[in-house]
Amino acid sequence: MHSKEEAIKRISQLRQTLSESNRLYYVENAPVLSDFEFDTLMKELSDLEKQYPDLVTPDSPTRKVGSDLSVQKPGGKEFAQYPHRYPMLSLGNTYDIAEVEAFVDRAAKSLGHSFTFSCELKFDGTAICLTYRNGLLYRALTRGDGTIGDDVTENVRHIGNIPQKLSGAGIPDEFEIRGEIYMPYAAFDRLNEERERDEDPPFANPRNAASGSLKLIDPEEVGHRGLECTLYHVLGENLPFVTHGQALDAAESWGLPISDKRRICRDISEIEEYINYWDTERKFLPFATDGIVIKVNELPYQRELGYTAKFPRWAVAYKFKAEQALTRLLSIDYQVGRTGAVTPVANLEPVQLSGTVVKRASLHNSDQMAMLDIHIGDYVYVEKGGEIIPKITGVELSKRGNDVSLPHFPEVCPDCGTPLVRDEGEAKFFCPNTDGCPTQIKGKLLHFIGRKAMNVIAGDATIDQLYSLNLVKDPADLYSLTKDDLLRLEGWKERSAQRFLESLEASKKAPFDHVLFALGIRYVGESTARELAASFKDIDSIAAATREELLQVEDIGEVIADSITEYFKDERHLEMISRLKAAGLRFEAEQEAGPVSGILKGKTVVISGNFSISREEMKQLIKSHGGKNSGSLSGRTSFLLAGEKPGPEKMKKAGASGIPVISEGQFMEMLSAGEGSASAEAQGQAADDGGKQLTLF
Ligand code: IVH
Repeated sequence: MHSKEEAIKRISQLRQTLSESNRLYYVENAPVLSDFEFDTLMKELSDLEKQYPDLVTPDSPTRKVGSDLSVQKPGGKEFAQYPHRYPMLSLGNTYDIAEVEAFVDRAAKSLGHSFTFSCELKFDGTAICLTYRNGLLYRALTRGDGTIGDDVTENVRHIGNIPQKLSGAGIPDEFEIRGEIYMPYAAFDRLNEERERDEDPPFANPRNAASGSLKLIDPEEVGHRGLECTLYHVLGENLPFVTHGQALDAAESWGLPISDKRRICRDISEIEEYINYWDTERKFLPFATDGIVIKVNELPYQRELGYTAKFPRWAVAYKFKAEQALTRLLSIDYQVGRTGAVTPVANLEPVQLSGTVVKRASLHNSDQMAMLDIHIGDYVYVEKGGEIIPKITGVELSKRGNDVSLPHFPEVCPDCGTPLVRDEGEAKFFCPNTDGCPTQIKGKLLHFIGRKAMNVIAGDATIDQLYSLNLVKDPADLYSLTKDDLLRLEGWKERSAQRFLESLEASKKAPFDHVLFALGIRYVGESTARELAASFKDIDSIAAATREELLQVEDIGEVIADSITEYFKDERHLEMISRLKAAGLRFEAEQEAGPVSGILKGKTVVISGNFSISREEMKQLIKSHGGKNSGSLSGRTSFLLAGEKPGPEKMKKAGASGIPVISEGQFMEMLSAGEGSASAEAQGQAADDGGKQLTLF
């Protein structure tokens, strides 16, 4: 029990933690609390507000849904925002079956007659609201703050299982249908592998990956992320349905993706049966679920029960707890990364968790360690919860022995001994010795030679040796290595040395954006490097750019702009760049080659299946002839280019919508007819060969 004074303090603390956690979850896609931790804190706040109703404020996190509205960045791309016709609310949730029973009892008491429940999976993705007008997809909005949402219609058009056009009987002139966009595990694993290869930070879990992908700037890129959608709530004026189940059945008959895992239950025992079944079966589903949603099925009864400010009274979510294991914390390693961030990593007594043996777990940062009051020798709870490496979520204090000891977060870099610093707003400590700390130097060298950077054939072991023999201290040193130097490396022979030198030589042809990425400027990933190279054309212009000029570039916000200006203020960096220049690396963007032909001008092409060249090359080919590539078929698709084993769904859809399908052979013929048309245009002949050819189909 809290005194009122204590309650005021705790309420303010909880509101702050929950609001910040909401922002990190919905806007940054980088959650810091597990669902269970979040829900527990929310329940504590809600209980306190019940105890002291005069302390309730309308902006309390208990009263409003977390907002996913995009933060408008200076110079960044924004989404248009539109109001929701009906507020988009959240669901009351519980981890306790007794509260589901209480929900059922409350509904029964309040309604006073018999009714049924629709039990459904709770899909763990990001909420979406689709409006269909006259059978066509008109608009897609995110939940936003529940009142207005971000317009992601163009992106949603690239999600494979969301129809652009409905068919069937009884389609209302206008209606809304809401659901969840999620990323199946297979697509998530593929995406993260790709991101790790590209040295982009991987997504923590499929939910973050789904909401991050939905807000991508490039709609076509969205189409390649493998997102899927399941819809679960039909809304509109004067709809003819009596039950929620009927509405979903109708929506399914119009071609909308509705889950086949839903079931009508008559009483709590059937609901419990459903919950127990899916508690284990969900582990075999190809996508993430985090609970079960139980809804009153009859629509008039739903209306009768109504809504609170935040939840419907006619539905509740029963959430599954993430699997946990209890084990002993043996020690903590403090690891320095390429950027100098120091991360505490726990060494654990090995324990089984969801099918794998866990030996190490993340502790995130020193705040997290303090919050958990963790001691070496403690028994700790580890959870997978979708994160890349498991994390420690709690300490079992009842098992704490006398032999535990308080860990000390190092004050100096565990590698080079430099005092660590923590920038304002950063959760992590950093080693500021960027150019002198061995781990950071080696990390930077490895980054420099990476596949998406300079693509030099070498790995960890080579970099380790080159560094420890004092042959290489920064990337520019690589280009002064001689064969004799290399023959000093353990196990290196004439042939390996030769190959390495050739690979270094070849790297001098890497385009400017790769070189820029290779420099390892903090926050400048592959795509930012591409944007910078395209906007400024050469390194001197980037180095001379002001913060304001940098902010004009798409996707560059204040943090990145500051990091770039900082980087070029450092004389050592400028000196290294001039040595790299002298070695012959490219520090200027190439003149963009004009299109080979304009035969595909104004045409949108969807490709499917395998071709004699890679899909990436095929897309390039389409672009170089003036066409646009799109990930999914729509009203704007000019034709489907089908290789070997094209996707059956795409073929079916193309057939149904009358979109022409052409083979690789036909396509190549078409291009060779267009070859030279660009130069024909340049000579002033207004021949629109592209258009003529395409009327063939
Ligand atoms: S019904 C008025 N059904 O869970 C509330 N929601 O934690 C209508 N969710 O905001 C929501 N699966 O984004 C409903 N089968 C399902 C769901 C579901 C996932 C999401 C939805 C909601 C959130 C609440």
